[in-house]
Amino acid sequence: MKGARSNIVDAIGTTPIVHLNKVAAHVKSDIFVKLEFLNPGGSMKDRVALNIIHDAERRGLLQPGGTIVEATSGNTGAGLALIAAVRGYKCIFVMPDKMSHEKIATLRAFGAKVVICPTAVEPEDPRSYYEVTKRIVAETPGAFHANQYHNPANPEAHYVSTAPEIWNQTGGELDVFCAGMGTGGTISGCGRYFKERKPNFQVIGVDPIGSLYYDYVKTGRLTKPFAYSVEGIGEDFLPSTMNLKIIDEIVRVDDKECFLMTRALVREEGIFCGGSSGAAVAGAIRYAEKLGDVHKNILVLLPDSAQKYLSKIFDDKWMSENGFLEEPDPLGTVSDLLRSKPRRPIVTVPKGDAIRDTISKLKEHGISQVPVIAEGRLEGLVSELDLLNYLLAHPGRTDAPIDDLIEADYATVTPQTKVKLLRNIFNEAKLVCVLDRDDLLGVITKIDLIEYLATRT
Ligand SMILES: Cc1ncc(COP(=O)(O)O)c(C=O)c1O
Repeated sequence: MKGARSNIVDAIGTTPIVHLNKVAAHVKSDIFVKLEFLNPGGSMKDRVALNIIHDAERRGLLQPGGTIVEATSGNTGAGLALIAAVRGYKCIFVMPDKMSHEKIATLRAFGAKVVICPTAVEPEDPRSYYEVTKRIVAETPGAFHANQYHNPANPEAHYVSTAPEIWNQTGGELDVFCAGMGTGGTISGCGRYFKERKPNFQVIGVDPIGSLYYDYVKTGRLTKPFAYSVEGIGEDFLPSTMNLKIIDEIVRVDDKECFLMTRALVREEGIFCGGSSGAAVAGAIRYAEKLGDVHKNILVLLPDSAQKYLSKIFDDKWMSENGFLEEPDPLGTVSDLLRSKPRRPIVTVPKGDAIRDTISKLKEHGISQVPVIAEGRLEGLVSELDLLNYLLAHPGRTDAPIDDLIEADYATVTPQTKVKLLRNIFNEAKLVCVLDRDDLLGVITKIDLIEYLATRT
């Protein structure tokens, strides 16, 4: 019949772009959102799934009746599952246990097998969802690993589908593209397409606090990642699908602002989107605020739907149990903790400092590690142990610069980060650096946290 798509796969794409009228009313720029949750599988990952399957079929990696295996937080799974349903493939999905029930139930509804793995283990741990996926691929006959974290067909999907669609819909009148960063497929594929079409086009990445992208973009070092609640964005490793060079600016957001913005988008704009959409819009607004009186057309990609988060972001009990509604949090914020410390200048050393001078600094201040600053920005950390190891290998070489000793065994937070989160962070890192944008506001050690908690009534 005229007007009908031949099957559900042909209904992927051609999602609308909508102007935000309330939540961004205070900024000069216009912010537009691309409603990718209106894809048939409920997210922009439908486009990724389609391109990955096309690519695998073309290369002969996926044979008729074969099994698609993937480590997915749900959205890529839904896309793969609906295409698999149409084309007669089987699916096995491996998911971390922090994922919402709705996401897991959706995949099972499509007839897929779902295997759940613990979140709180290292990626190399045999129980991690990366390792479990590898094992299932090896053990299943006719298995094809979609591998969205390392499959170039992922960013390519956005390069050949999402970005050209946006460009045609807007007539190229865009200046800025803003998206959350998970596998990096969206930002890398769209960013490349837009930059090829317009000089000075700006690509803005949004990263949750706890993920390692932000620090890596700023310093080139892998600091300590830690757990956060927003789903789909941020990583604890570097996927090869992420092209960080395409990013002009990276904005950091915390769970609370992501979730409150998600609620505002639904309640004030009627846009029924999920948590990573709130994150991306919060990041875009932050960027637009920084632009001040300069006007830009900013497009933000909204990856998925509120439907999957009804029992979390849209549930007052869950929100308040997790401290996302209470104001203020009883244990306070990192900013309160810093204010409670005796007022002393932050001890730092410049990059290029001689080992001898860094040793004197540690001795003078009675500290065992010190942040290293280059061009006003945090570059990393040098610790007693690093100095000790160096001098054991090179006795007396105290005139050498500390540069090769700089390491990243710390986590970074913002002044707004809740104190109660620090406990988890100290499980991973020996020091916490507090950054306000690029400025180092202070450092927090375990003993600082202990003293702060001991003096609270
Ligand atoms: C809900 C959600 N938002 C954002 C993203 C991030 O997109 P990308 O993987 O293209 O960086 C994902 C990816 O899994 C997602 O599921």
